[in-house]
Amino acid sequence: MNIDELKSLATAIVAEHKGVLAADESGPTIKKRFDSVKLESTEETRRRYREILFTTRGIEQAIGGVILFDETLRQATGDGIPFAELLSRRGIMPGIKVDQGAKALALHSGNKITEGLDGLRERLAEYKQLGAKFAKWRAVIEIDEHDIPSAYAIRANAHALARYAALCQEAGIVPIVEPEVLMDGAHGIERCKAVTSQVLEAVFSELDAHGVVFEAMLLKPNMVIPGKKCVRRASEQEVAEATIHCLANYVPAAVPGIVFLSGGQSPEDATGHLNAMNMRGPHPWQLSFSYGRALQEPVLATWKGLESNVVAAQMAFLKRCLLNGLARAGTYTRDMEATDFQSLK
Ligand code: 13P
Repeated sequence: MNIDELKSLATAIVAEHKGVLAADESGPTIKKRFDSVKLESTEETRRRYREILFTTRGIEQAIGGVILFDETLRQATGDGIPFAELLSRRGIMPGIKVDQGAKALALHSGNKITEGLDGLRERLAEYKQLGAKFAKWRAVIEIDEHDIPSAYAIRANAHALARYAALCQEAGIVPIVEPEVLMDGAHGIERCKAVTSQVLEAVFSELDAHGVVFEAMLLKPNMVIPGKKCVRRASEQEVAEATIHCLANYVPAAVPGIVFLSGGQSPEDATGHLNAMNMRGPHPWQLSFSYGRALQEPVLATWKGLESNVVAAQMAFLKRCLLNGLARAGTYTRDMEATDFQSLK
């Protein structure tokens, strides 16, 4: 492992104005997304959709890395250029989701544990051959107002994240460590903050115990936000303040970047919250994005599987990329949503 190389890769992914596109939906998840626009999920529709995303002109201004799913890493453009090579040529780093999904945690009803450590060393070696520079593992932390998550579920997920991260660094791949406290449920922002704090404390304690080099990883957390069913909504400023306070207490300054997931926020809210946090900077780490839905929802809703919609879908994608690029600097405003985005370029 060349740790200096990993450090510079991690830093490059979150270079100025840049963040990550999460395009690593598993088979069942991409089917759910395609169902929403009545599009059949086949190997070819999935390939074509990812091709539309990755060939959008101009995204390299705001996208430093793309997380791929196993199938996508093995796919290519219509002209036969492997996606990993296409992205690399454009200065965008290809990454790979390596976990194998969250399952029920035995004897801890309502809690989940992410699987995928068996054989991971061998899979990482193959992914590196295929061009992956970084990886992602998502721990799913269920939350309610009382006793979920259990302390054991937090510990078990933190331990798995640390084993994954150590294997990545050993293989010369930058780990993105993703402990996601879900947005589902009726809990308030304070409960989200308390659980997110416990989770981050456990995650960094395990990462440290496993010898993971903080400078050579990225953290992908949820924002501190009320549950979707909570009646008391939080303002943009409240979310920014609670999230930064939580991160400042639990994330070592040695970590080069924090790339938030969007978790079910609207694209505009995800951009607005990131912007509000960066307006309060400077921070010890780069505050950036690794959005799936918040970057892709408008693209899929525009494309709908029709070739005649490809140009408009790519424009919708470029617009979200550039607006999030501005949010990285704290210079986004909501009225930009209505302006001609060509002026943002
Ligand atoms: P969302 O931004 O849609 O939450 O997806 C990010 C992600 O990669 C979840 O693992």
